[in-house]
Amino acid sequence: MPKKLAAGNWKMNGTSASQTEVTALCGGIEQVSCDVLLCPPATLVAPMASWAAGSTLSVGGQDCHANATGAHTGDISAPMLADAGASHVILGHSERRADHGETDDLVRAKTQAAHAAGLIAVVCVGETEEERDAGRALDVVGAQIAGSLPGGVTGANTVIAYEPVWAIGTGRTPTLDQIGEMHDFMRDVLARQLGDQGRELRLLYGGSVKPGNAAEIFAVPNVDGALVGGASLRAADFLGIIRALDAA
Ligand code: PGA
Repeated sequence: MPKKLAAGNWKMNGTSASQTEVTALCGGIEQVSCDVLLCPPATLVAPMASWAAGSTLSVGGQDCHANATGAHTGDISAPMLADAGASHVILGHSERRADHGETDDLVRAKTQAAHAAGLIAVVCVGETEEERDAGRALDVVGAQIAGSLPGGVTGANTVIAYEPVWAIGTGRTPTLDQIGEMHDFMRDVLARQLGDQGRELRLLYGGSVKPGNAAEIFAVPNVDGALVGGASLRAADFLGIIRALDAA
């Protein structure tokens, strides 16, 4: 069984004033056995890594460039994130796919760059509402997995987050049956593609996870944790989710 992971995605939120929440979170996870990760905006990666020093909290970026250095104004590379204290990086989030036109090919190149820098890639996939209504959710996610993962993926260097686009920030979640169907499907695809490593990869569910719905989601087979947006901003909410994961 892969070790469970609760990952928080702060998106474009957080300043130096966020230290109190991070300190509270670090105190709250002292007794939990699952892995806990927070991915703040790039400006907070280094400060958060120092706030988290001595705790079990891991820190990650929300994106990286496919190259290690070069003339790419405004971009940040995987070795830079690692240098700032990150151990993980979220890649291919649907907001980046939509806002910045990121394709599976680009996500694959970024994932390769993350691995080369020693970072664990949290690769996001998920269908739009239109695609689900058309009965294409499994096909879309299968194609994203096939296209977004480079060679050399293992359970140690990659995590997959299934985030239906229509569930992100909307307060709507798929039914437990829909989550279960997708996670079983992803497990099968990965096991076929990667053998034993495919069984080791952690599969996170993301999209409107809250303390109130976390326990039932974590009881679904092949759900190894969550990628949490809004509810990761406050330590009290995120801790509610983390405790539910620990108890699952
Ligand atoms: P949400 O975001 O929890 O606010 O729905 C999830 C995500 O985008 O990772």
